[in-house]
Amino acid sequence: MSCLGEAWRQASRRIDRLDARLLLEHVCGCSHADLIAHSEREMSPAQAVDFARLVARRAAGEPLAYLVGSAWFCGLEFAVGPGALIPRPETELLVDLAARRAGTLDRPGIIDLGTGSGIVAILLARRCPRAALTAIDISAAALGLARANAARHGVHVRFLEGDWYAPAGSERFDLIVSNPPYVAAGDPHLCRNGLPFEPRRALTDGLEGGDGLDCVRRIVAGASRHLHPGGWLLMEHGWDQARKVRKLLRTAGFGAVATWRDGAGIERVSGGKRGALKPVQ
Ligand SMILES: C[S@@+](CC[C@H](N)C(=O)[O-])C[C@H]1O[C@@H](n2cnc3c(N)ncnc32)[C@H](O)[C@@H]1O
Repeated sequence: MSCLGEAWRQASRRIDRLDARLLLEHVCGCSHADLIAHSEREMSPAQAVDFARLVARRAAGEPLAYLVGSAWFCGLEFAVGPGALIPRPETELLVDLAARRAGTLDRPGIIDLGTGSGIVAILLARRCPRAALTAIDISAAALGLARANAARHGVHVRFLEGDWYAPAGSERFDLIVSNPPYVAAGDPHLCRNGLPFEPRRALTDGLEGGDGLDCVRRIVAGASRHLHPGGWLLMEHGWDQARKVRKLLRTAGFGAVATWRDGAGIERVSGGKRGALKPVQ
């Protein structure tokens, strides 16, 4: 038998102290305040076994969010699991930019490509209650989480399974948003910081020797067929990809092409407006 305080101390020798605390709270269903005020409380044998297993998995590099089954994004808690990317704080910029544009339109149609756990579509549905949200992903597992998250946050999003625009047929939208996979397949970061536990398809286009932008190219290529005149395409990308993404947008005939920086000052989202320019052949 082990008391809460002792279990926390011992686990903190193997994993980060905060992670140990959050795992303990998750297993024992207690708050941080409980942990401090009742540190001498005994864990049940089942709790001790569960906690030891989770500490071992965390020590092996598995992300905390997958171990506790949830992550926070823009002040809301979302269910996450190994079928979907863990929300990243930098994606808040994509949501903010999209919400600002949608806010100027009456009943905008918005599509979120590669919705994962649904964070972008769900936040936009909450911030723009008059918008009609469609969200697509190729992963059935991710869509299962996204549907559960939409229900949890009380919003209606039409979730469709398939390859980028395919499930939307010939439908057009006022706004296309996407945080697509954009890490180059050869990037060594894919082997670090818990990324091997996340779905590879959520992180990279998988093309060996490529620049990671294959999904961006496909999204840009299809955008004009799915945007109303004057509609916007906004995409998140890697810290060193903005120039290439802007070039792809201009070449496809987009106007008002721009890049926005995230809270860390990194060029993170680029986009353009379906404009008057004729696409370059
Ligand atoms: C970087 S994750 C973004 C997830 C979520 N939007 C977020 O910001 O946390 C990219 C998503 O694109 C999806 N995806 C990859 N290839 C796809 C394809 N061909 N068609 C549709 N979705 C795809 C992945 O399953 C993954 O959920």
